Amino acid sequence: MFTAHSMKKQDVLNCRFSNWYPIFKQYTIKSVVIPLENDFVSYLQELGTLMLPRGVQVNINLWKGNSSEEEEQEEDVWEDEKETENSGSPEFSKLISQITEAIANLGGSVFPKMGWSSPKDAIWINNNSLKCCSPGEVILLLKSSDFISHDLTSAFKLCDNQSSSGGVSDIKQELVLRKWANLFPGMEFRCFIKNKKLLGISQRDHKQYYDYIDREKEQLAVELCNFIEQVVAEKFSSQNYVIDLYKKRNGEYWIIDFNPFGEMTDALLFTWNELQDGKLNSCEDSVDFKFAGDTNGQFRFASSTSTLQPSEFLSYRMPVDFVHLSTGADATKFVDFLRMKTQNDQQSSSDDDSDQQWRLPDTSKP
Ligand SMILES: Nc1ncnc2c1ncn2[C@@H]1O[C@H](COP(=O)(O)OP(=O)(O)OP(=O)(O)O)[C@@H](O)[C@H]1O
Ligand SMILES: [Mg+2]
Repeated sequence: MFTAHSMKKQDVLNCRFSNWYPIFKQYTIKSVVIPLENDFVSYLQELGTLMLPRGVQVNINLWKGNSSEEEEQEEDVWEDEKETENSGSPEFSKLISQITEAIANLGGSVFPKMGWSSPKDAIWINNNSLKCCSPGEVILLLKSSDFISHDLTSAFKLCDNQSSSGGVSDIKQELVLRKWANLFPGMEFRCFIKNKKLLGISQRDHKQYYDYIDREKEQLAVELCNFIEQVVAEKFSSQNYVIDLYKKRNGEYWIIDFNPFGEMTDALLFTWNELQDGKLNSCEDSVDFKFAGDTNGQFRFASSTSTLQPSEFLSYRMPVDFVHLSTGADATKFVDFLRMKTQNDQQSSSDDDSDQQWRLPDTSKP
């Protein structure tokens, strides 16, 4: 029988960073939580602008491979930007100094996220990385991410008591800065806990084959079971949740994140039907384990015959031309755009037909 459990807002709240971090501080990466004022949250939610707050600059480097002459042009554009940056930009000087201070306290580079999500769909705007060394990089990533918007508006979407009082807009939003750690993706594991028992473990980087995991799978499953039984299960108050764990080089485990037990969390090598039903299908690339000496679970991993898959975040990318234009970072494209616009205006004022049509730009350079 299908026994989908019901997810409550409290289960989602338990997975919020500032709720679990104080409990598990000694088992996770050092982090700083900065409560966010409403005006910054509104700024993040505004559509159609990539305008950065006053006083922050970023070096968007989407043009790797350009000739040095073109790179010099970019420098010039950013110099111009610096002179005119004050016009119309929002001002968040308190937040900017809090971020600057946190980055310094955390060793100079950080991993940013909000209560639940990181802006990993937006890494293309930050040299394909979530590593941030300045407030500008943090803010640009947050502002460009659909996953962050989801945290701000829809965190309780799948809860069966979501219409009861205390919606996501009543929550004081938070920015989380975590000390940057060079994590090896093959050492991350996602563990699915149902009724306080570990039901499934999936390799976190599930599209890649790691021979280490293949060799050590039985031992890894035992270690992950022990960690959850001894460190996590009694202290985490939800019955059902998903925890991401990382095995460090010294053999100890780190908690990377807690996630709600539901479809907003990626089931990786499982399906949510299986997990919610509690009955796992047999699977060739898996080993069975026993949790707490009695219940059965399954550890799934990618096999050596898995094919290389494209990035799962490709669909979140914005056309690079749009980014260049909206940030004013490519003068040549901007001139082309203005030329196209001027031609179009001339065309529409001389035409009787009001249906506007774009003309192809004249690409000959002045
Ligand atoms: N402090 C850190 N330094 C460097 N990389 C990190 C750090 N914390 C997390 N990561 C990497 O980023 C990935 C995503 O982190 P995290 O799970 O916190 O984000 P998330 O948005 O909640 O992800 P998901 O949606 O999959 O739950 C991790 O799997 C890990 O590889
Ligand atoms: Mg997560």
